[in-house]
Amino acid sequence: MISVAIDGPSGAGKSSMARRLAAELGYTYVDTGAMYRAVGLYALRAGKDPADNAAVEALLPEVHLDIRLQDGVQHVLLNGEDVSDAIRAEQVGMAASAVGANPAVRAFLLDTQRSLAKSRDVLMDGRDIGTVVLPDATVKIFLTASPEARAQRRYAELAAKGQPADYDTVLADIRRRDDQDIHRAAAPLRRAEDAVLVDTSELDIEQSFAALKQVILDRTRQNG
Ligand code: DC
Repeated sequence: MISVAIDGPSGAGKSSMARRLAAELGYTYVDTGAMYRAVGLYALRAGKDPADNAAVEALLPEVHLDIRLQDGVQHVLLNGEDVSDAIRAEQVGMAASAVGANPAVRAFLLDTQRSLAKSRDVLMDGRDIGTVVLPDATVKIFLTASPEARAQRRYAELAAKGQPADYDTVLADIRRRDDQDIHRAAAPLRRAEDAVLVDTSELDIEQSFAALKQVILDRTRQNG
């Protein structure tokens, strides 16, 4: 099986790039952030503080996640409800980052993530795919961009959706999330030693896509 691991900070364009690359190269796209988001959503709905590890761990036996792959698109079912849209809220992203620091949550999601890569070629994105989830991945990429470039993109994305935001607030949120993801004890965000670094600060979408596709094609050829 071929596995492509793409890690990096939030807002680097991982999921949109990963989705497109998977479709073009014929891999199944697995979005692990969506799984953390679903757990974060469950904690919020249960009225728990997502940063309270013991409280969130106590909820885990009630959380049943079902990852459905339909036509290459991942749907996340939380206790039978399709939450694929609900998990995209900003607040759920912060909650996901908080529950991602919880070792019990990481252990809970690890088997699901690994088993998805066992029976099919996958392109999986997250924070610890190359370092923890799939340490033997065929291709590892660390996709990043400066906090300012990521904030600018996020700001433009929100404006396009008719949800105008304040650039400085967006930038502060990005820095806070980076800080949380990088400095946590459990599976912190870091580049695997054998990951190819792709920095898209100065690249537009098409250039980023072309750069990533080239890395994947080069590496899968070398390994195939
Ligand atoms: O990629 P994303 O923005 O959907 O991820 C949301 C949060 O989930 C992110 O801030 C950290 C956490 N996460 C994680 O800890 N490990 C992963 N493999 C994926 C996401």
